[in-house]
Amino acid sequence: MKTHRVLTGITTSGTPHLGNYVGAIRPTVRASRLAEVESFYFLADYHALIKVGEPARVQRSTLEIAATWLACGLDPEKVTFYRQSDIPEIPELTWLLTCVTGKGILNRAHAYKASVDKNNAAGEDPDAGVTAGLFMYPVLMAADIMMFNAHQVPVGRDQIQHIEMARDMASSFNHLYGEHFTLPEAVTEDHVALLPGLDGRKMSKSYDNTIPLFVPREQLRKLIMGIVTDSRAPGEPKSTEGSALFQLYQAFASADETTALAKAFAEGIAWGDAKQTLFERLDREIAPLREVYDQLIQDPARIEKTLKAGADKARAIATPFTARLREAVGLRRLDSAVSATATKATKTAAPAFKQYRESDGLFYFKLVDAGGQLLLQSTGFASGKEAAGAIARLQQQGSQALDGLQAQLITQADPAALAQALAHFGPDKA
Ligand code: TRP
Repeated sequence: MKTHRVLTGITTSGTPHLGNYVGAIRPTVRASRLAEVESFYFLADYHALIKVGEPARVQRSTLEIAATWLACGLDPEKVTFYRQSDIPEIPELTWLLTCVTGKGILNRAHAYKASVDKNNAAGEDPDAGVTAGLFMYPVLMAADIMMFNAHQVPVGRDQIQHIEMARDMASSFNHLYGEHFTLPEAVTEDHVALLPGLDGRKMSKSYDNTIPLFVPREQLRKLIMGIVTDSRAPGEPKSTEGSALFQLYQAFASADETTALAKAFAEGIAWGDAKQTLFERLDREIAPLREVYDQLIQDPARIEKTLKAGADKARAIATPFTARLREAVGLRRLDSAVSATATKATKTAAPAFKQYRESDGLFYFKLVDAGGQLLLQSTGFASGKEAAGAIARLQQQGSQALDGLQAQLITQADPAALAQALAHFGPDKA
């Protein structure tokens, strides 16, 4: 049974590089093959408009990123793979969420704040050159996630704040309009080392030090020959510590291969030979993928078809869910007989989890029933994420989750009442 929804998006503003491959694409494709997860992967092209003002680049990047995911083994039959702008329900949900989001929360978003800080430092108007798109970015991202009620969102560390904001929006909406949204959780791959770029700094488009994933073989070789090294001569022992070349090798090689290269470093392998070894190892993994990529990129119509099929699958969820949300907020047909009192009743007819932070700095939650009676009360959690994790488990597993959570619960209603309330959530009802 599919119990878990995992969702992630990639902004279509560039060309995938080795850092993206090792840090995001490869682990994500692997994870998508697990039987118990239901995965959603999408091309965040609305997001691209925030930073890219060149239509041709947005289009090219969308094609390249789609072809990359497919070439790396993402199976569109198993996962839902779509383009954000094919789902008009997403901007619609963005508006619904905009209306429950405090402006002050958005003021604190890192990406926006960084721009303001930069302007302040330069003595400019704080909002100089800042679009409302940049400011609203976290709301669009929350809509991406909440449209599919994703439980887990694999992201880079710089995105954690956005997921926390999405949770706040989900709670606020649920509080106002009833339990419609799952509270999402960020998943960061802590063990994935950041891949160094050609100059030894983190591989990043902003440092202009990337190695594109799918350049022709000869070009890949040339780029690898350009990786910075120290000036030790052939025969001199070399340090693996801090060596960009070694770290890149490690990201692709087996443990045995890595040990062997470390030994060669100690024995004074020439940098040129070490680079050749790295090139061959990389190309061994990439060459078969590159072949598929090259075919795909020459057949945009096929990718377009795949994305359209993905959009149909995504909209089979998004369209009815949006109808339910429109109903919940009062965007209703005038001939549907729903009085003000009836609205009130729907609003409170469901049990609800409430998450909050106390003055002791800890994070708590409680579960109240439709009539506002306390059913569960937690002890304090160190982070909001842990509290949310416990809530998610209760929502997904119902009473079965109670045993494992005993240490974190102080008040508990009788089991029958609890089971009844918890049955209200469940993966398909959230
Ligand atoms: N903002 C993300 C990034 O720049 C991309 C993104 C857009 C995303 N919407 C998302 C990631 C939803 C996860 C979930 O990396």
